[in-house]
Amino acid sequence: MRVLHAAAEIFPLLKTGGLADVIGALPAVLRSQGADVRLLLPGFPAIREGLVELETITGVGPAFGAAQLFIRRGRVPGSDLTAYLLEAPWLFDRPGNPYLDRDGSEWRDNYRRFAAFGWVAAHLAYGEFDPGWRADILHCHDWHCGLAPAYLHAHPASRVRSVFTIHNLAYQGYFPLEEFRELALAPSLLSPEGLEFHGQGNFMKSGLVFADRLTTVSPRYAQEICTPEFGSGLDGVLSMRRSRLSGILNGVDYQVWDPENDPWLPASFSAFALEGKAVCKAAMQASAGLDQNPRAPLFAVVSRLADQKGADLLLAALPALVRQGAQLILLGTGERFLEEGFAAAAAAHPRTVWARFNYDEAMAHRMVAAADVILVPSRFEPCGLTQMYGLRYGTLPLVRRVGGLADTVVDADAMVFPSGSGGETEGTTATGFVFERATPIALEAAIARAIGVYADVDRWRQMMRNAMSRDYSWAASAVQYRDLYESLLVSPARQATATSV
Ligand code: ADP
Ligand code: GLC
Repeated sequence: MRVLHAAAEIFPLLKTGGLADVIGALPAVLRSQGADVRLLLPGFPAIREGLVELETITGVGPAFGAAQLFIRRGRVPGSDLTAYLLEAPWLFDRPGNPYLDRDGSEWRDNYRRFAAFGWVAAHLAYGEFDPGWRADILHCHDWHCGLAPAYLHAHPASRVRSVFTIHNLAYQGYFPLEEFRELALAPSLLSPEGLEFHGQGNFMKSGLVFADRLTTVSPRYAQEICTPEFGSGLDGVLSMRRSRLSGILNGVDYQVWDPENDPWLPASFSAFALEGKAVCKAAMQASAGLDQNPRAPLFAVVSRLADQKGADLLLAALPALVRQGAQLILLGTGERFLEEGFAAAAAAHPRTVWARFNYDEAMAHRMVAAADVILVPSRFEPCGLTQMYGLRYGTLPLVRRVGGLADTVVDADAMVFPSGSGGETEGTTATGFVFERATPIALEAAIARAIGVYADVDRWRQMMRNAMSRDYSWAASAVQYRDLYESLLVSPARQATATSV
């Protein structure tokens, strides 16, 4: 089974969020389970410089505004995973954030950059660029690769099947209809049954309409996105394709996130030897200038500061957190008003609130290890990884009951018992704190509940043990992807959803 994964980010070379963590782990796990998996990545400087043993296998062009596109083949460092690179300096050779210019606006030619990426993904999968390899399955991730299924669909006899994974429906990749003629697709695809959406072109919709199978990154989000509340306008399209959509929970790469073996930490620890966690907490409090109080509940946030993440709710709930003697450490980048709000709170409460607004992988590990609670009060959350990292580090997640957060955290007061335990006498499987409504009041109440439980040392210890013993490794999820690929290989070629297209 030959599978080409196409994605815009990969940890540790280039990361803006959880997509990179997924691409840094899942393809390698699938490969270790026996599939012939390869990757296609865009030639952003950090990726081009990070891949090893790169050789040019072909060049094409002019195309998509670039004089030439080069397809290069190399390897992901530290693994035996083959990675193809779409090298096109005209499109990708720009420093910093892969999608945004220096002012934080989308690059105006994003449609062209990622159309080129989707086009190359389709043709590479078909076997046109590397004479020694073609794919049975093209697995596309997020809107960046949304046009690839359309290019495959446009081929009258393509034998390549496609899977499109939604990591975040809120980012869809719009473009003006006038630009469509640059994309080398038949005008008939630019219809409401195709990739047109409210007078614009839409990469995400293209993926949703033209891929053979759709997945998203948690079972609960798969249900949510078929409703107007979470569908970002595409719930109608998704409902139509409901029978082709499944939710497969992301995993954790425990080689990267493991408190027993984490090079970023001042001390290691495990569920059976927790002393190191206290060392991590004390070191964090000292370096952040917080009160050196081992019994002050320490809350952490490691997050993009976007509307999705509910950081504004936390800002509103912060005075209550501080009043109750708790501490907050926050690492995030994003909306200016949130950065300013947390900076002001840190200035007002230097012994209890600390905030940094940069991207710092090592600091993220130290914070997750040091804290007692990791806060993820999201408005919506396709999967969320930081709550799962928190679980492994004995840092109890406090989350809103949405998406992957609902699928991975069991509330302290939930009456859920370990299967086969015989019931109440064994205690619950509680691993964290879950609240319902996206309001500061509801968040405050959950924070108060967490602080209350924290005072009960035995109960907290039990919850830490529950959390640390949860296994969210990639192996189980990878098997679900493999089953999905297998089902595609035996099913007949798909008819277009829209017969007019
Ligand atoms: P999303 O992909 O929506 O941002 P996830 O929880 O899936 O959310 O993944 C976020 C990833 O980005 C995690 O690995 C988290 O540790 C990391 N991260 C977020 N902000 C920062 C930051 N400022 N510094 C370092 N890592 C960060
Ligand atoms: C997105 C989502 C996040 C998910 C990640 C990886 O960025 O916002 O919830 O964990 O993708 O799938």
